[in-house]
Amino acid sequence: MKTCVLTLCLAAGTQMLLAPLSRGQAAAEYRDHTQSAGVWPRQAVRGAHGMVATDEELGSQAGVEILKRGGNAVDGAVAVAFALAVVEPAAGNIGGGGFMLVRLADGRTTFFDYREVAPGKATRDMYIKTDGTLDKELSVIGYKSVAVPGTVAGLELALKTYGKLKLADVLAPAIHLAEDGFPVSEKLARQLDGERAELQQFNLSRRIFLNDGKMFHPGDTFKQPELAATLKRIAKNGAAEFYRGETAKVLVDDMNRMGGLITLEDLAQYQPKVREALHANYELDGHKWDVITSPPPSSGGVAIIEAMNMLHDVPLKGWDDAQSVHMVVETMRRVFADRAAYLADPDFSKVPVEGLTSDCYAKELASTIDPEHASSSKTVKAGTPHICGVSASNQVAPQAISLNDGPHTTHFSVVDAAGNAVASTYTLNNSYGSHVTSTAGFLLNDEMDDFTTQPGVPNALFGLIQSDANAIAPGHRPLSSMTPTILVRDGKLSFVTGSPGGPTIISATMLSVLNWMRLGMDAQAAINAPRFHHQWLPDVILMEKDFPASLEAALNAQGYQTRRRGHIGLVNAIGIDPKTGERLGAADPRDNGAAVGY
Ligand code: DON
Repeated sequence: MKTCVLTLCLAAGTQMLLAPLSRGQAAAEYRDHTQSAGVWPRQAVRGAHGMVATDEELGSQAGVEILKRGGNAVDGAVAVAFALAVVEPAAGNIGGGGFMLVRLADGRTTFFDYREVAPGKATRDMYIKTDGTLDKELSVIGYKSVAVPGTVAGLELALKTYGKLKLADVLAPAIHLAEDGFPVSEKLARQLDGERAELQQFNLSRRIFLNDGKMFHPGDTFKQPELAATLKRIAKNGAAEFYRGETAKVLVDDMNRMGGLITLEDLAQYQPKVREALHANYELDGHKWDVITSPPPSSGGVAIIEAMNMLHDVPLKGWDDAQSVHMVVETMRRVFADRAAYLADPDFSKVPVEGLTSDCYAKELASTIDPEHASSSKTVKAGTPHICGVSASNQVAPQAISLNDGPHTTHFSVVDAAGNAVASTYTLNNSYGSHVTSTAGFLLNDEMDDFTTQPGVPNALFGLIQSDANAIAPGHRPLSSMTPTILVRDGKLSFVTGSPGGPTIISATMLSVLNWMRLGMDAQAAINAPRFHHQWLPDVILMEKDFPASLEAALNAQGYQTRRRGHIGLVNAIGIDPKTGERLGAADPRDNGAAVGY
């Protein structure tokens, strides 16, 4: 990297209202690779016009079908999201929430935030037992773990804002898949088997997802008539049906019978938000890059810009080079310490986005890295972010912090023939969310566990540190790590990316960006390359299995604790060939993702 000119166009606070793997879950990124890296595809899928990359071939096909019918990338993305709600029940959803980052071919960018919110009856200490200890089940399984879903409202808003087609058109592939069924893949059969203990606790989940106890086998046809009926009602009456119509009534009736908190009023009040994306500009080897990424309540965009700023003068050679890994790990350690202290729902908290992503602050943090040895997270604490020219002492104080976060989510990327692009990550939080299925036929999230459920205590799913600013309160959005991201090179669309994986989302997404932008890998190599993760606490580097033992030994000699992990993230990305303009679909082979283009 020769020079790095950093200008940051921030959307700080601008919101325009438009309308410990404790449960034996088996999220894809926590299992071993299904195939060894040796047989992974080495080349991206090429398409001259449109491309869709998702976790599921049927999901990618649904998107391409809509693109071919004249839909744009937003139409395609909304069709993918509804289709994944049928074919990828672990994470695809209408009972959860997420983010959609759009960059139109004319350069306009928009971030749709359809993150869930805490119900009106939620209270700060709702998961703390009378003996003062945290109930580690209540925030991750069952009716009380469910936050007010945002997906249907968010998808409708995105479609109304930028789509060309009607809701009924983009819902058609999903309705067909739910009504007529689809063949159960080996992956789905394995996942459902892995979730048996949790799903069988809820009658409807057992009937629908465990085939009434008989289980599904590869090749069986999986039909979801209740879900098909719900999707049809949404196709006819729009999101209002979900939030104020029959679906709302059915959902609230379930909640009332089973001890959940969500009321009709919570649903009627839910609003997705349009936020401005974060932008960071860099010059690199004669090219101008614009990194467009996710604002709060995502913590990921701030984290990625803060990290890339710290890394801008650091030579990176690749991930077989212990020094490169060391520098990225130290960067992540500091970024995650800041995440813990400062990131929260920006509608209720002052998040110092400008300071955290400022060039001067990054330089200060980078100067605390010992180039030869590991730091210790006992001594690295959240910094004092500030913008250039303003003393750190005038800035916002870090929040009191406590430990958290939660596994399965799904990311998909869409590029259409005109060059419009969508990066979208959405989730039920844990694999299969709360494991509760609504009488209306869809799984409900357990996003409440992304709040700080008890100060000073790690939350149930991931053990990340978070602050009191992320405490549970009615109408608040829990802090997220989901980070849909788009890169523009010399004014032209270059790379569309993102990942699931709780806090590892940030590392997996950032590594894909570094692989493409800094290391010049081609699209598929950028996805296949081995991944690592450090989140400040616990003070350990997680490394995928494909790293050579010699690299791990070199890191251990620098003072790092290391631990091997099957998967880190599932990145479904699309690159643009700068010479031909072809779309390069690079799905993650770690759990059989699929890119489909034309
Ligand atoms: O929003 C978040 O950061 C989490 N709810 C995401 C959870 C996740 O990515 C789980 N699995 N892959």
